[in-house]
Amino acid sequence: MALLRHNGRRLEADADFLDRQLCWRAYFVRMANYVLTLVEDAADAAAYDQIRHHVLFGGSHAYIRNGPEEVKDENLSLLLKLDGIPIGTVRLDQKTDKKAIVRLVAIVSDLQRAGHGTALMGCLEGLATTLGIRELLVYARPAASGFYLRLGYTPFIFDPDNKESIQLHKMIS
Ligand SMILES: CC(C)(COP(=O)(O)OP(=O)(O)OC[C@H]1O[C@@H](n2cnc3c(N)ncnc32)[C@H](O)[C@@H]1OP(=O)(O)O)[C@@H](O)C(=O)NCCC(=O)NCCS
Repeated sequence: MALLRHNGRRLEADADFLDRQLCWRAYFVRMANYVLTLVEDAADAAAYDQIRHHVLFGGSHAYIRNGPEEVKDENLSLLLKLDGIPIGTVRLDQKTDKKAIVRLVAIVSDLQRAGHGTALMGCLEGLATTLGIRELLVYARPAASGFYLRLGYTPFIFDPDNKESIQLHKMIS
């Protein structure tokens, strides 16, 4: 029941791990009808790219598939599915000291403000906890900072050189 790449190795976890109604199975986290899954096959990769390209980059040519940060083993490219249909994306970049950066959170445009982003972040916290992560960091777009504040993130400067984003963090356990 290998689950995820973790620091270049495959991570194994117990399939009966249960935490706050989050349930592990091989390759995904399940919450209600949501599944947060690693992008590993071509169909998932296409959905992941399409959502990010349109929601985060407005369909612009600036979007680069398979950039160097996408292919690092410690950076987990994740797709949120609802009843098997891809509706959201996030990347979890694992760092040292039990920290990780939550990047490029997106919910398909016509499904926003319906609670799916909150579900995605709940699944992500469950995954991060299982990976031993204790602190999540976010570079938020100013327009989206209210979303993270609502989820318990608080302002926290961890990268003083970055002036474009609202930096926030949340301790998890
Ligand atoms: C930001 C995003 C991921 C949130 O997902 P979502 O499914 O729309 O969020 P939810 O429905 O779970 O929102 C829960 C609460 O968070 C807050 N919230 C959500 N989006 C917000 C936003 N853009 N600004 C301020 N508050 C927001 C609201 O309080 C909302 O509750 P309400 O709808 O009852 O008022 C989604 O809107 C999105 O993909 N936006 C475009 C891409 C983006 O900006 N990504 C973030 C990059 S840092």
